[in-house]
Amino acid sequence: MNTSGKHILAIDQGTTSTRAIAFDLDFNPRATAQIELQQRYPQPGWVEHDAEEIWAATLKVCRDAIEQVGGAANIAAIGITNQRETTIIWDRKTGAPVHRAIVWQDRRTSDVCAALREAGHEKRVQQLTGLLLDPYFSGSKIAWILDHDPALRRRAEAGELAFGTVESFLVWRLTQGHTHASDITNASRTLVFDINTRVWSDEMCALLNVPRALLPEVRACDAHFGDADASLFGRAIPIHGIAGDQQAALVGHGCFEPGMAKATFGTGAFLVMNMGEAPPHSANRLLATVGYETKHGHAYALEGSIFSAGATMQWLRDGLKLIKTSADSEAIASALPDNGGVYLVPAFAGLGAPQWNAEARGTIVGLTRDSRLDHIVRAGLEAVAYQTADLLGALRADGAQISCLLIDGGLTANAWAMQFLADICDVEVARPAFQEVTALGTAKLAAFGSGAIPSLDSASSAPSVRWTSRIDADQRATLVAGWKKAVAATLAAATKH
Ligand code: G3P
Repeated sequence: MNTSGKHILAIDQGTTSTRAIAFDLDFNPRATAQIELQQRYPQPGWVEHDAEEIWAATLKVCRDAIEQVGGAANIAAIGITNQRETTIIWDRKTGAPVHRAIVWQDRRTSDVCAALREAGHEKRVQQLTGLLLDPYFSGSKIAWILDHDPALRRRAEAGELAFGTVESFLVWRLTQGHTHASDITNASRTLVFDINTRVWSDEMCALLNVPRALLPEVRACDAHFGDADASLFGRAIPIHGIAGDQQAALVGHGCFEPGMAKATFGTGAFLVMNMGEAPPHSANRLLATVGYETKHGHAYALEGSIFSAGATMQWLRDGLKLIKTSADSEAIASALPDNGGVYLVPAFAGLGAPQWNAEARGTIVGLTRDSRLDHIVRAGLEAVAYQTADLLGALRADGAQISCLLIDGGLTANAWAMQFLADICDVEVARPAFQEVTALGTAKLAAFGSGAIPSLDSASSAPSVRWTSRIDADQRATLVAGWKKAVAATLAAATKH
């Protein structure tokens, strides 16, 4: 057992911020540092990050957290978790990115995906990758970067460039170019990875026009990914645990048995259910993905992804200025006797699961002369519950049984929204006392990988607050019927342009 160093440093590189949390070996957080990340919207539907800004922030938050726990001698291992799918291509010689990172929310490749769908490729794509033909995933983003600069395509074919999602770029930078690797959960979100054989798919690379020479080596989540160079933190530190943020949250919640599910309500919302050892197939437009893989075994998962959850609250706050803080929405929603028939479909970046419509845009329906701004705020919160219920409906239609949903993320602080979630989904909703479940998951993977703990299920975060439904089936059916009409209106408008 390697117990040199008394802490695990978890890097959580998310869509809106970069954080480092140092956990002690009982998984108590002992130091935290965080830097916001600039969002860049160069054209409607496009979302970019600056990979250099991500790297500079990562370095800074790591140094801050390491200093708070008394220096690098007190760090046994580093774990990384990250926003998934976001696409970075860099020069293997200099390590410099050749393009801004194209963020998972970016819709610029929706035409390419639609053309492949119309040409009848989606069934095969789903068989191979577990995913669907949607711009959300990395594959079409990689091709877009190369197709917009012939020199880059030539250099990619010649093996001069490297592709990675954020964890892979950070590993490259931390190891100063020694390791070009991804973990299997991040690889399973690229659209060029075969989740059945668990290797890169030549067939998908050919279909999407992605040169094989760009791709990283794929390792298990608890593998050794090389050492952070001694020049960065004063001593070499092994990188030992990596998972995409939603899969890390699955581990952090302790969802190690088939049928256990978690939902994280951050910028978007992601519901992930452990499906056991065999690759699942969704007949209801959910994603099949790798939940985790370690030296003790692996699990597949089904996932439903909603693109706007906390993002809707940000829009109500920063765009419409209807609330001052996200917390205001709780008082506003609970002061209204009902939703007044107003529904908001937050399709700002298209609709994810289970509709998967990249062209859909946000819609408010049901306005009357009695409608007030407060109804729009409440409708924004209600939408999170309806969308989650749609995902649970798809999971059940795929044969999954679910009685309890483990939750985390900023929006779970809103007790009104969580009660409404339980009301609409008609399942028990349970929130653990410790909310940094994503960072906890990657810290556990790194602790396990480095030998500091004997198994992953040591130290799961136990639920401390629970909500169950307080409405009857008729009330639920009436509310859900209104939502379904609103979604139908959104989709009808989307197909018109
Ligand atoms: O698939 C995208 C997801 O990984 C982003 O998560 O927490 O950065 O919004 P988050």
